[in-house]
Amino acid sequence: MTTAGSAGYGTYRLDGLPARVTIHEVGPRDGLQNEAAIVPVEVKAEFVTRLARAGLTRIETTSFVHPKWVPQLADAAELLDRLEPAPGVRYPVLVPNERGLDRALERGVAEIAIFGSATETFARRNLNQGLESQFAMFAPVVERALRHGLKVRAYLSMCFGDPWEGAVPVEQVVRAGARLLDLGCFELSLGDTIGVGTPGHVAALLDGFAAAGVGPDRLAVHFHDTYGQALANTLTALTKGVTVVDASAGGLGGCPYAESATGNLATEDLVWMLDGLGVETGVDLMSLVETSVWLADRLGRPSASRVVRALGPADAGGSD
Ligand code: HMG
Ligand code: MG
Repeated sequence: MTTAGSAGYGTYRLDGLPARVTIHEVGPRDGLQNEAAIVPVEVKAEFVTRLARAGLTRIETTSFVHPKWVPQLADAAELLDRLEPAPGVRYPVLVPNERGLDRALERGVAEIAIFGSATETFARRNLNQGLESQFAMFAPVVERALRHGLKVRAYLSMCFGDPWEGAVPVEQVVRAGARLLDLGCFELSLGDTIGVGTPGHVAALLDGFAAAGVGPDRLAVHFHDTYGQALANTLTALTKGVTVVDASAGGLGGCPYAESATGNLATEDLVWMLDGLGVETGVDLMSLVETSVWLADRLGRPSASRVVRALGPADAGGSD
């Protein structure tokens, strides 16, 4: 290998970008929830540990959802029990309802994320709730979590389009997102669940939130890369002041309740771009690539990340 990353070819800054970006790693949760085969809990634990060692400080680990809805993450409690605390590393988990919160509190988690929908159809398919009734489900979860001293993040799905409803108006997304924040969440992650967004749409949505009084300091972006737009969309969000970006090691990911969803923006592809731009992430690219190569071998298929394919061994995870 000739280079440790894009900075080996020079660092060229662009005006208007933040000096530092926080990566919210979702591979163990968004990635592994979508694997056809169930990944053994010891492999998951090693995956999370390796991600922390690579310098990721926010690692979304698993979900306390109904195990029949997402059997891939039915081992949530066992996985958390296997993790060693690492200084400065947060291990948030998804929690949809009070039963999920009970399970998370039993494990002593410090941070949860609720996950709402901007559309009626996806709220029903993903949460078995209507667009309106989802807020009534989340309100007591957030209230009780905050009382226990937990941090609570919020996700909003289908922010850029919905496979059943088509285009989703910006105002509808802003309204739903502001309501999730109003429950007391510290951050709202805007999900392009099916990857249909384009850069101008990202700018319009962030402008819509700004006009409603929600600045980029309270927003994160969560792009699935179905149509190859995730990196361009991320760069647009950064120019608009967003500094928290969700990504998934090796480009793992999808949503079992949105068939057209594929993997998230690959963390390695994001780090390659940010390293070249001189934007700090604290992540060691080669250590991350080695982790994704190691996981690809366990999953028996190559990584979706272009950077992992370029820097890893040609036969990682078997051939396509
Ligand atoms: P439901 O069937 O309506 O639940 O599911 P219920 O409240 O009617 O309860 C039925 C039974 O389930 C009860 O048991 C409950 O105790 C039990 P019974 O009394 O019949 O024995 N139950 C639970 N058990 C364990 N853990 C729980 C739980 N809740 C109820 N938390 C529910 C409603 C929300 C639970 C279900 O729809 C669900 O689990 N949905 C999760 C779907 C999911 O995880 N989707 C993927 C994550 S979202 C995503 O990927 C998008 C994102 O990445 C952003 C983006 O890309 O856009 C975040
Ligand atoms: Mg997602």
